[in-house]
Amino acid sequence: MKGLTTIDSLSRADLGALTRRGSSLRDRLDAGGQVERPLAGMCVANLFFEPSTRTRLSFDLAAQRLGAEVITFNPETASTKKGESLKDTVLTIAAIGADILVVRHEQNGVPQRVAEWSGLPVVNAGDGTHEHPTQMLVDAVTMWRHFGRLEGLRMAIVGDVSHSRVAGSLMRGMPALGVDLTLVGPAEWLPDETAGCSTSLSLDDVLVTVDVVYLLRVQTERGGKITPGYVDGYQLDGARSASLGTDAVILHPGPMNRGVEIAEEVAESPRCLVTEQVRNGVPVRMAVLGAIAEGAL
Ligand code: NCD
Repeated sequence: MKGLTTIDSLSRADLGALTRRGSSLRDRLDAGGQVERPLAGMCVANLFFEPSTRTRLSFDLAAQRLGAEVITFNPETASTKKGESLKDTVLTIAAIGADILVVRHEQNGVPQRVAEWSGLPVVNAGDGTHEHPTQMLVDAVTMWRHFGRLEGLRMAIVGDVSHSRVAGSLMRGMPALGVDLTLVGPAEWLPDETAGCSTSLSLDDVLVTVDVVYLLRVQTERGGKITPGYVDGYQLDGARSASLGTDAVILHPGPMNRGVEIAEEVAESPRCLVTEQVRNGVPVRMAVLGAIAEGAL
């Protein structure tokens, strides 16, 4: 099945190629240059069953920049409200004429099922606690552009790791690119399966050793609970940020909850590359959609 539903389907060479392609598209967009339109005459359908700002809008713009027509399904105003099943909804959108589907859903595995039902290439835009592959690629591009390399970088993923699909994709992709990962959080939020990554209960111990601190939102919609103990032990505040190495940076997939996982002053500091991550969202999604249109994914 073509498309991108899991980072596991990408080889190390694919990950490197998509990172380079995303970064070079970013340069082209920044320079105001023309890009090829491999999706001209194609239709991309966005099916977001969960809220989204940056992911949905960046898929939308990425598809348009590559020449596609874009249609957007809104579950709040669609016939799912009249009892239509997910499968019938997907088959309807395929019959209308979509060529590529971008899917976000609260249940793990839905993008894969949508691909099987429709026979169309599907890009997973986040499924439950499982994966968010294009966010991982956005982060790889952001780190690569900042440090000029990925191999040998040390990265801590901090907070509600077990409920985070972003962490799920980072844990699959970053080690393959040579990034050394440590998962940090309260014991109940560290996953049972750590895929060979180290773990730590102490953020303070880890901060002095890393190049990248990757903060996660507490996934309250998936059972994560914000407690005062969590904020005391794991919020990246000004004092903790001061213990980072001079060149270390802070990443966050967004949306940030200021005052929970990240203090206001840290979110506003030049070390925090959140805006850079968002800027890389469109070119990275162009790289993925372009590779699908060429049959490479
Ligand atoms: C994330 C998501 O939806 O998985 N956001 C995103 O797409 N950048 C992270 C989150 O919601 O915490």
